Amino acid sequence: MEKNQSCRHVAIIMDGNGRWAKKQNRERTFGHTIGVENVRNIAIRANDLGIEVLTLYAFSTENWKRPLEEVNFLMKLPEIFFKKFMKELMEKNIRIRMIGEWEHVPQDTRDILERAIRETSVNTGMILNFAFNYGGKREIVLAAQKYAQDVRDNGRALELTEDEFTTYLMSGEYPPVDLMIRTSGEQRISNFLLWEMAYAEMMFLDVAWPEFTTDEFEACIRDFMQRDRRYGGVKA
Ligand code: FPP
Repeated sequence: MEKNQSCRHVAIIMDGNGRWAKKQNRERTFGHTIGVENVRNIAIRANDLGIEVLTLYAFSTENWKRPLEEVNFLMKLPEIFFKKFMKELMEKNIRIRMIGEWEHVPQDTRDILERAIRETSVNTGMILNFAFNYGGKREIVLAAQKYAQDVRDNGRALELTEDEFTTYLMSGEYPPVDLMIRTSGEQRISNFLLWEMAYAEMMFLDVAWPEFTTDEFEACIRDFMQRDRRYGGVKA
């Protein structure tokens, strides 16, 4: 596809794994296992389409409320993913990054994510950014704390522009989100990238994450390219 400069950052809420599995009389964890396969498929297609950053909501700060057994399984997903697909990610020149907090993340899960980030840091292609133990409000509060510290310790000026505040966010180095996709029917943003999605286009799809195809993903990107983004202005 012809590279569209304005579709630089795509964010996805990968919803519906559990419901999809239950519909087939399988355990919810089966949905997550197939969901992991689809992370690979969508990431490869996004990279082929020239997307610069793909941020995936893999584990929210609210997901700790799930039954312990499911939380433990979700913590194993990075290991399953990188064991299976690391070689391919390297071949495709994809960089792994993470936004979120390490606190409460089991050490072995943390080791696996940190290793993937380290090993792919030599790559120069698409950034596959996992939001893991991530919450949007929390990200903004942490940025405010960092800024306050900078004022107190380094004499940073009190005047602050939106662009300057952005640099204190975990995702501060990435372009703002252009397109947010949520699978599986719910129409909410669930504390995901609140600051970064201020002007994002939104697409809410009925299809569950495990069955969301790469062609449907590409259709979303094409649909995005047709949209008229005015950022609060009027059409020229
Ligand atoms: C939402 O489905 C999905 C999740 C909470 C987890 C999604 C994570 C992945 C698909 C893989 C992550 C991969 C890596 C490498 C970290 P749900 O369980 O909320 O589904 P439901 O709404 O049907 O219950």
